[in-house]
Amino acid sequence: MDKVTLNNGVIMPTLGIGTFLISPPDALNGVKEALKMGYRHVDTANLYGNERAVGRAIKESGVPRNEIFLATKIWPTEYHNPNIVNETLERLGVSYVDLLYVHQPAGDWKACYKMIEKAYKEGKTRAIGISNMEGHWLDELYSFCEIKPQVIQVECHPYFPQKELRKQVEKDGLRIVSWFPLGHGDPSLLNEPVISEIAKKHGVSNAQVLLRWQLDMGFTVIPGSKNVNHIKDNFDILKFKLDEDDMKKIASLDKNKKYNEQTDAKLDAYAHRVPVYEKP
Ligand SMILES: NC(=O)c1ccc[n+]([C@@H]2O[C@H](COP(=O)([O-])OP(=O)(O)OC[C@H]3O[C@@H](n4cnc5c(N)ncnc54)[C@H](OP(=O)(O)O)[C@@H]3O)[C@@H](O)[C@H]2O)c1
Repeated sequence: MDKVTLNNGVIMPTLGIGTFLISPPDALNGVKEALKMGYRHVDTANLYGNERAVGRAIKESGVPRNEIFLATKIWPTEYHNPNIVNETLERLGVSYVDLLYVHQPAGDWKACYKMIEKAYKEGKTRAIGISNMEGHWLDELYSFCEIKPQVIQVECHPYFPQKELRKQVEKDGLRIVSWFPLGHGDPSLLNEPVISEIAKKHGVSNAQVLLRWQLDMGFTVIPGSKNVNHIKDNFDILKFKLDEDDMKKIASLDKNKKYNEQTDAKLDAYAHRVPVYEKP
């Protein structure tokens, strides 16, 4: 498994499995199968409503807890819940997570960041993450935080390769984790002629080229899937590499356009959207 050392010395596998919009039964099956295949990084969130299933998958996989890099995110409606870190650990069935993110710069996200700093000091998370906070949010965070974060999770794919953020994070050694690496399954990204040509050359699928590009750019990638064949294909990106010519061709796909542009209205809606948790 490819790995990267975070700015606090913690090691993070650069390929993981994502679980956004994956139901608890699919998360239980998919994450368990992924761990058996060799995945060692799992990404979930309060909002996804599948933390219990992810925790069960970890237990049932038989893989020791200390070999798994488990990441979750605190959702805005929980930013003022003083017990949210313990509740999250309870749902996951673990005594610590490896990475705990502020999910959105909505509502009182600064209070959430401080709560995560406290959890970090107490050993309840081994690393601190922020999500959807590129640009001015990151500057604002640095104006008050006591401990700088290790990871930033953002939308990233060849249509939006996070050019500015790459420069912004360089000096602090903040690692980028990419969401929507397959454009959430967008056929126009998956079927880009440049991607098809490169896939043919390497004898791999278009999805594998898009995911391998992430690793070759130095990003960490967490493709979401409930399909065990896709989960296996996505793991097999560790078996090949793109060359300089491939990378140049993929760079030409940059449209400087996200699927999910951040707006004040969206952030306001997030601050009021209550997660639906699974029953114990
Ligand atoms: N921080 C945030 O705000 C945020 C936002 C969005 C997502 N995320 C995280 O990032 C992860 C990745 O994003 P995402 O899951 O939304 O989108 P994604 O990984 O870009 O795409 C997932 C879609 O691609 C399909 N897929 C997966 N592997 C495939 C393959 N090998 N061939 C063809 N299709 C394939 C999946 O369908 P099947 O199930 O049929 O395979 C699913 O429909 C999430 O799961 C979540 O953990 C974070």
